[in-house]
Amino acid sequence: MPDPTRVNETKIVAVVNQKGGVGKTTTTINLAAAMVAEGLRVLIIDLDPQGNASTGLGIDASDRELTTYELLLDDVALGDVIQDTQTEGLCIVPATVDLSSADIELMANEKRSFLLHDALRQPLMDDYHFDYILIDCPPSLNLLTVNAMIAAHSVLVPLQSEFFALEGLSQLMLTIREVRQTANPDLRIEGVVLTMFDARNNLSQQVENDARDNLGDLVFQTKIPRNVRVSEAPSYAMPVLDYDPTSKGAIAYRDLAREVIAKNAKLAA
Ligand SMILES: Nc1ncnc2c1ncn2[C@@H]1O[C@H](COP(=O)(O)OP(=O)(O)OP(=O)(O)O)[C@@H](O)[C@H]1O
Ligand SMILES: [Mg+2]
Repeated sequence: MPDPTRVNETKIVAVVNQKGGVGKTTTTINLAAAMVAEGLRVLIIDLDPQGNASTGLGIDASDRELTTYELLLDDVALGDVIQDTQTEGLCIVPATVDLSSADIELMANEKRSFLLHDALRQPLMDDYHFDYILIDCPPSLNLLTVNAMIAAHSVLVPLQSEFFALEGLSQLMLTIREVRQTANPDLRIEGVVLTMFDARNNLSQQVENDARDNLGDLVFQTKIPRNVRVSEAPSYAMPVLDYDPTSKGAIAYRDLAREVIAKNAKLAA
């Protein structure tokens, strides 16, 4: 019997929201770690010049000679940019601030929107047997993010449980529709996950109600609570699952991983 949690094809998920500070990087790191805890192999692509995912997983600046920038623009082989992390089964292609100039350089490149798509489909990728690739996007709908949406099978949107949370969503949905029409017709919305949820705060509840009313089943059942352990973990260079496995944040990310895996298993069936 094949393991039903195992997806055959590597699923590529872009973690996107053009709003800053909503929990993209935190979700990328901890969802990835939680998938690994479920027995899967996961690669994170740090597609943000801020390099927060790389820092949060303890990749020293001195270990970032070959990065997402080189993967996109210098034609380096995958094997040269993929690094192991402290978490067994979790790998990363790190980023540095160099990536900020990539957005401009991409404009000059004819195949500019497909660079990440092509890079992730190098034949060597099969040798890694990744179940999931999570792409941590910058807070913008720029060419880097468009590259992620064209490379991906689906988009996962962290939504901060705060005022104005839903405001940018229509622009994001419009961009997804454009990408579908022009380059990636099969792009799915993996789901919207409420982050930094505070059950004692009416506003959080209101954002949840609005999101569920407007987006229905697209909103994951799992909500990520505001939890100090989640925000502390990156300064110890680890996912919250390793930093404090019994914290509410760690438990929520494990629930989210199970929800994503179950959704994809259902789609594959
Ligand atoms: N569940 C949580 N509980 C407490 N703090 C959180 C939680 N999720 C994220 N944070 C904190 O909120 C801040 C923003 O999170 P994060 O960096 O993941 O957002 P982002 O969307 O990636 O930001 P950017 O748009 O700058 O890339 C960070 O300081 C992070 O530690
Ligand atoms: Mg980020």
